[in-house]
Formats: sequence, structure tokens, C-alpha cells
Amino acid sequence: MTSSFAFANLEFPRPIVQAPMAGGITTPELVAACANAGALASLGAGYLSAEAITTQCSAIRALTSCPFAVNLFVPASTIADDDVIKRARAALERCYQSAHVSMPEAFAELPTFESQFEAMLDAHPAVFSFTFGRLDARYINACRARGIALVGTATSLSEALALEEDGVDAIVLQGEEAGGHRGSQAPEGDAQPLMTLIKSCCARIARTPLIAAGGLMTAADLSRAQHAGASAGQFGTLFLLADEAGTSASWRDALMEVVLCRDHKATGTTRAVSGRIARGIKNAWMDERAPQAIAPYPEQHRLTAPLRKAAGVQWKSFWAGTGAHLCRSGSAAALIKALDNCSISD
Ligand SMILES: Cc1cc2nc3c(=O)[nH]c(=O)nc-3n(C[C@H](O)[C@H](O)[C@H](O)COP(=O)(O)O)c2cc1C
Repeated sequence: MTSSFAFANLEFPRPIVQAPMAGGITTPELVAACANAGALASLGAGYLSAEAITTQCSAIRALTSCPFAVNLFVPASTIADDDVIKRARAALERCYQSAHVSMPEAFAELPTFESQFEAMLDAHPAVFSFTFGRLDARYINACRARGIALVGTATSLSEALALEEDGVDAIVLQGEEAGGHRGSQAPEGDAQPLMTLIKSCCARIARTPLIAAGGLMTAADLSRAQHAGASAGQFGTLFLLADEAGTSASWRDALMEVVLCRDHKATGTTRAVSGRIARGIKNAWMDERAPQAIAPYPEQHRLTAPLRKAAGVQWKSFWAGTGAHLCRSGSAAALIKALDNCSISD
């Protein structure tokens, strides 16, 4: 199998993408360590302000001269209905009460995509990756004009075909096993097992390199994805316990418990945290305690943020993929080294 990864005018020594993970996981230290180890490393900037994007890109550059990616969330094209938001807010009151957290009157705004995109352009990473949708032509043209390569996210063949038509340089194919948010272009998009998705896309996507994502934890997983037709593998959950990752202590504890119990069914999906489907370690968001009325993303995300911040582990969002039980601690470089070539029977 190829041991490097080339697309656009870029070449990476390893066929590995360190997944963008918004929410502080992909610290500049993690991104730089992965880039220095030969991967395409990604800063998950979806929740960062423009200023933070600028600062974190400078911090990455102080630690590495290798190319890296910045990742953002494409905003929804529809505006949420006030009544739907009111119902979601009312449904969440019970959750706040049960967690002994007072529900605030007002909820923090998220940074605008425009401001984030401008900061990304100014920071001039080698790659701009995006999820939750297709990119308008004006954003594509702005990246092209600066020589920034584009990587979009698809969870189905039709989404991958649409991205190819848009002219992206590579496509992340995200399977249902993936930790974090489902990157579908439609908020309620379907998910498929990763191998099924790769095989269906390889038959039709001829020009654009495919990056496999979802449940990849070992060298053998990477080989399987490459055999199926992917050019590289994107790893998120694998890095959650990395020394350089920004994963909180309680999140690390929850993962360690899953690892120690070898619990391969520890994760589930929910829409209740953010309004978009996401996979994480099972807790109150995934059982009968979860609110039934849910606002669309990003409104639900804003409404639940204070609860997730202040409450105990039952109301946190510990995103992780189906491979969570195979998480390992160590330096990012060691985790990447362990993905070196293997026989597929490993
Ligand atoms: C904690 C966490 C946060 C994530 N945040 C993002 C993100 O900001 N942008 C994005 O495109 N994908 C995000 N993802 C999804 C990853 O890009 C990738 O698809 C996924 O991690 C692959 O599955 P795995 O976690 O099983 O390796 C996130 C995943 C996790 C686990």
C-alpha cells in the first residue's frame, strides 16, 4: 500500500490525516506534533473566534514548518423557527434542573462563519477543510486565488459527487462509526458503514482522492481502507488520549474506563446535544433523560453549552467513535508510528 499521501500540489510522508476536532482537542501542540510526524494535521476551528484562529495558526507555525489544515463548519442555509427554539428551551429546563445547573436567560453567540473564514484566509494554511455542507463558489474562489487546497466532507455517494463537481481537491468519506458530529451536507443525512461508503464512492469518484474516516484505530484498519480504495485515513478518536490533545481530564477518565472494560459498544448517537447527529460515549443525552424537543444546529448547541460545561459526566459531550475501546495514550508521534505498514491480517 502507498505509504505517502499526495493531493493538489502537496505531499505528506504518511497516508494519515489527524482529524480536525473542534472544542479545544486539536491544540497547536497536537497539530504541530502530527504534522512533524508526517501526517496532514488539522486544526478544528469550528468554535474558535477569528482572533483565536489567528493566534492558534501562529502557535502551530512556531512549532512546525510542515503544511497543515484549518477546518470550519459550513453554516446552515435556513434560520431556525422561534417556536421550535422555545420548545427546545422548555424541554431542556428539566435537564438543567436534574443536573442542578441554573439555566441562563441568555446564551453565548457563536462566531460568524464569515469572520472565521477571513481569519483562516489570512492565516493561509496549506489546506482548508470543511464539514456540514458544500461551500459557496465565492469561498471556493477565495481559497483557489490563494493556493489553499480544499477538502470537503461526504457521508454518501451523492454528497461525494456534489463535492467533486464543486472541484474540491480531496474528499473525506465519513462512515457511521465516526466520533463527533456527522458531517453530512443535509443536517439529518444518512450514515453508512465506512467500507460500504468507500466501495460505493470508488466506483464513481475517479478524479478526487478519497480520505476514509470513522472507526479507524490501527494499522490494519488503515490498510483495509486503502485496499478498499481510499488514499489516506483520517483518525480522530485515536488522538483523544494523545499527550498533546486538549481532551479534558473527565473526558480522558471516561475513555480510560471504556478502554479498561474493553467496551466496544460504549458509544451511541444523539441529536439532543447540538441539533446535529453526533457520536460519543453513552450518557444522559442518549437515553430517556434526553430532551424530546430539539432545535436545529447551532441553536441547540448554544442552549446546551452551559449545562455541558457545569454539569457532571452524565451531561457532558464526550464525543468518540466506535473504536473508543482501542484508544491509547502516548505522544502523537508514537500513535502515528504505530500506524506504520502492517499485513492486513494484523
Ligand atoms: C471529539 C471530536 C470532534 C470532532 N470535530 C470535528 C470538527 O470540528 N470538524 C470535522 O470535520 N470533523 C470533526 N470530527 C469528526 C472527524 O473529522 C472524523 O470524521 C472522525 O473523528 C473519524 O472517526 P473516528 O473518531 O472514529 O476516528 C470530530 C470527531 C471527534 C471525535
